[in-house]
Amino acid sequence: MRAVDIIQKKRDGRELSADELVFLVDGYSNGGIPDYQMSAFAMAVLFRGMTPAETAALTLAMAQSGDQVDLSAIGGIKVDKHSTGGVGDKTTLIVAPLVASAGVPVAKMSGRGLGHTGGTIDKLESIAGFRTELSREAFISQVNAIGLSVIGQSGNLAPADKKLYALRDVTATVESIPLIASSVMSKKIAAGADAIVLDVKTGSGAFMKTVLQSEQLAEAMVKIGSEVGRQTAAVISDMDQPLGYAIGNALEVKEAIATLKGEGPADLTKLCLTLGAYMVVLGGQAASFEEAEALLRQKLSSGEALAKFKSFVAAQGGDESVADNPEKLPQAPHTVPVIASESGYVAAIQAEQLGIAAMLLGAGRATKDDAIDHRVGLMLSKKVGDAVQAGDTLAVMHVHALNSSNDEVAAKVKAAYTLQSEAPKLRPLLLSIVTS
Ligand code: URA
Repeated sequence: MRAVDIIQKKRDGRELSADELVFLVDGYSNGGIPDYQMSAFAMAVLFRGMTPAETAALTLAMAQSGDQVDLSAIGGIKVDKHSTGGVGDKTTLIVAPLVASAGVPVAKMSGRGLGHTGGTIDKLESIAGFRTELSREAFISQVNAIGLSVIGQSGNLAPADKKLYALRDVTATVESIPLIASSVMSKKIAAGADAIVLDVKTGSGAFMKTVLQSEQLAEAMVKIGSEVGRQTAAVISDMDQPLGYAIGNALEVKEAIATLKGEGPADLTKLCLTLGAYMVVLGGQAASFEEAEALLRQKLSSGEALAKFKSFVAAQGGDESVADNPEKLPQAPHTVPVIASESGYVAAIQAEQLGIAAMLLGAGRATKDDAIDHRVGLMLSKKVGDAVQAGDTLAVMHVHALNSSNDEVAAKVKAAYTLQSEAPKLRPLLLSIVTS
C-alpha cells in the first residue's frame, strides 16, 4: 500500500477501506507518513467527505493509536459525556454527581482549559486539596466505591488524533465534519466509554456557528457510535451566550454547587437535566427520557446529588465543606462592575469574547503552559432578553488587583453585549436532539 494512492483515491471521491485508513493512521503516528501527505489527505477529506463506514474506521484507527482505558472492572454501563466546548460550561461538575446519584457509574477523564474555553480539571482544582491525578487503580476503585471519579486526561490517549489535529489547525482542514467527528469520538472511545452523550454547542461562542452544521456534526458522531457499538446521543444546545452567569473557575464551582442545591440558573439546570437524563437512559437506569428526568429532579430535591458531590470531592482529597460553605472557595480580592452606557434589551452576548475577557483577567490560558488564577472571572448580571437601563451593571469582574488593564477587559465585556430597542425573540436553549 502507498499513501499517495490512498490520497488519490480520496481526492477522486472514492471510498477508502478500513485497511487503507489504518495504514494511513498508523503510518502517520509512527512517522512513516510525513505531514505533507497527511495534509493532502485531510484536504481531500475536507472536499470529498467520508462515508459513515470510512468515518467509523478512521475513528477506530485513531482510538487504537495509543492507550485504551479498560473500564471493565467497573460494573454497569459506563456513560461518558462530552461537550464540544463553550463558555461558562460547568455541566460536568453538576451532571457527573447527579447521574452517579441515580446509579450510573461515571469514570470520566476531563481536560484543562485553553483559549476562551475553560476546562473541568481547572475548575475542580479551585477546591482546596482536590487531586485530579489518580492512578488507574485508584480511579477505578473510587468509581466502584462511590460511583464517580473525574481525573485529568492522562497518558497517551488517541495520539494520532493529537498529531492530526495539530496538523489540521495549520492547514485549514479543521472544518471537516468527518474529521471533527472522528477526532472527538476517537478520544471518547479510547477513554473506555460504553455509551456517550454529546453536548454539541452551536452559536457565536461555539465551534459550530449554525444549527445545521451542528446537526450534521451530531449525526456524524451518532453514526460513528452505532458503527462501533457505543450507543450515542447528541443534544444541540445554544452557545449564543454563556451558560449560566459565572465564567471563571471558582465562580463556576460556586454556581455548580447552587445548581446541585436546586438553586441554579434556569438554562444551566435545564441543560444538566437533559444531558443527565440521556445518560441515565443509556446507562439503563430508566426506560424513557421522561422517567430519567423525573428521577434526576428527585435526586436534586432530595439532596442526594449534592451529597454525591460531597463524597466525590472528599474522595479526591478536596475540602467537601465548600458544598455547604461556598464562600470557602478562593475569592478574588476586588470586584469591578461593567456599566451599561445605553438602555435597551440584550439581544446577543458574544460568548467567545467574554471567554477571552475572563482569560485576560487570569481565569484561562493563552498558551498551554500559562498558570491560571482560580479566583478571578466574570459574573454576568444581564443575559439575553434582559432589559438594561444606562448605568446598570452588565457584569461584574472579579479581579486580582485594581489596575488599568481592567479597563481594557471591561471594554471588551461591554463590547460583547449587543443592545437593541425592542425585546428580542429568545432562541431556545435546546435546539435539537440526535439519537440513533
Ligand atoms: N475538538 C476536537 O476534539 N477535535 C476537533 O477536530 C475539533 C474540536
